[in-house]
Amino acid sequence: MTATDERPAMLRTFPAGFVWGTATAAYQIEGAVDDDGRGPSIWDTFCRVPGAVARGESGDVACDHYHRWQEDVDLMKDLGAGAYRFSVAWPRVMPDGRGPVNRRGLDFYRRLVDALREGGIEPYVTLYHWDLPQALEDRGGWRVRDTAERFADYAEVMYESLGESVSNWITLNEPYCSSIVGYGEGRHAPGAKEGEGALAAAHHLLLGHGLAVARLREMARPGQRIGVTLNMSPTVPVTSSPQDVDAARRMDLLVNRQFTEPLFGGAYAADMAETFGRITDFAFRRDGDLEIIGRPVDYLGVNYYYRLHVEAAPYEEADPALRTAFDLGARTVSPEHARTSGLGWVVEPEGLYETLVGLTSRYPDLPPVYITENGYGDDGVLEDEGRIDYLRDHLTATRDAMEAGADVRGYFCWSLMDNFEWARGYSARFGIVHVDYETQARTPKASFHWMRDFIADPVVTGPVTVSPATTGPVDILVAGTPRSERPAGD
Ligand code: FCB
Repeated sequence: MTATDERPAMLRTFPAGFVWGTATAAYQIEGAVDDDGRGPSIWDTFCRVPGAVARGESGDVACDHYHRWQEDVDLMKDLGAGAYRFSVAWPRVMPDGRGPVNRRGLDFYRRLVDALREGGIEPYVTLYHWDLPQALEDRGGWRVRDTAERFADYAEVMYESLGESVSNWITLNEPYCSSIVGYGEGRHAPGAKEGEGALAAAHHLLLGHGLAVARLREMARPGQRIGVTLNMSPTVPVTSSPQDVDAARRMDLLVNRQFTEPLFGGAYAADMAETFGRITDFAFRRDGDLEIIGRPVDYLGVNYYYRLHVEAAPYEEADPALRTAFDLGARTVSPEHARTSGLGWVVEPEGLYETLVGLTSRYPDLPPVYITENGYGDDGVLEDEGRIDYLRDHLTATRDAMEAGADVRGYFCWSLMDNFEWARGYSARFGIVHVDYETQARTPKASFHWMRDFIADPVVTGPVTVSPATTGPVDILVAGTPRSERPAGD
């Protein structure tokens, strides 16, 4: 009898072959923004805009991973992780986003991939984690169709360079953030506040994904897999009033279904026209786009952090031409007495359960799912009990969702190390490894040690997750939480 057999039945383990990893993104960790011929990205530009990023910080140096990658790979080996999800900086390998390829930039990723493979760590390569080459933004960015074509060219360049060694590709990270938060709300690069521009960006990101899938498929060998990562936030109406329920429906469309329906449902979401008709006539869509976008993928990456509690709000009475894409007559609020992270984000593992089970029942053709990000932000304390609790509870929710039928194959913790947290700068820390930005010293936190033990023996014991929010309203809420305090998807 093995040790496993002696465990009480309530202990539930993850299947053999389940993938364990950590995740990062290029602009958040690499630094070296002017090294070896890298071109500027929209984040380099955005960080220079006064007030755009907390304390005027930028990714200029970040974790200096461009020079310290070997040490970071060693940390992953210590962790015992079998996989690592990172992103390629498009402007590092194609400084203008099109045209000449920068070999020195490609070499960096080749070295990294080789070291990962030598260390027994499977690379999961994200092609676009928000750092669009500025030269493409100058030509319209994701508002214009041409950027989708350029993205497919870039995907091809990357496959030609890394295809021998990389079997797992992710086209986009969180197109919701790159379109709505970047072109609609202006909180992310390129900092635009446009209605139609944001919705066009969402469409062109999806189109770029589909074009890249086709390009990669032409070249891929058997066993190589292509996926896409979405951030999923179930929405919860704060009361059962028809107004709040409808507001939550609109928010769900904006954040979730705008992307999942064309990718996995074979159609644009049915309520797109009704909800966004005041902003756009969707002239940017063309016949055949839906077929391109809906091409089958091998897996879906889900990034989950929180649910959105939504109430109805008055529509802005602005000039329609100035209306923002997210002016949905809806706003998010924080439930009173909610469990929150060190950043004040509402912690609700049941939302992950709800996401995984919900996707499974909604889309019969849903491919296998990998949780490509999930994590906890705080001020960087080394004894990070809050992060350990967060990880444990979300892993339990994941296991529960699998028992309820969700086909989940892997889990990537966000993040390997503290890094440049976009508009929040360096104060928000998500790493299981602490980074001292003065010295660049890396120090594993308590959560790193916890995660190492968990990966070695992945067993959850907690009570089975339930999701009350799907069946009824949440009672007590603080209405009108200012936007700066709400849990935002960035
Ligand atoms: C996600 C991003 C990731 C990181 C986490 C905290 O939305 O994909 O880069 O910032 O949030």
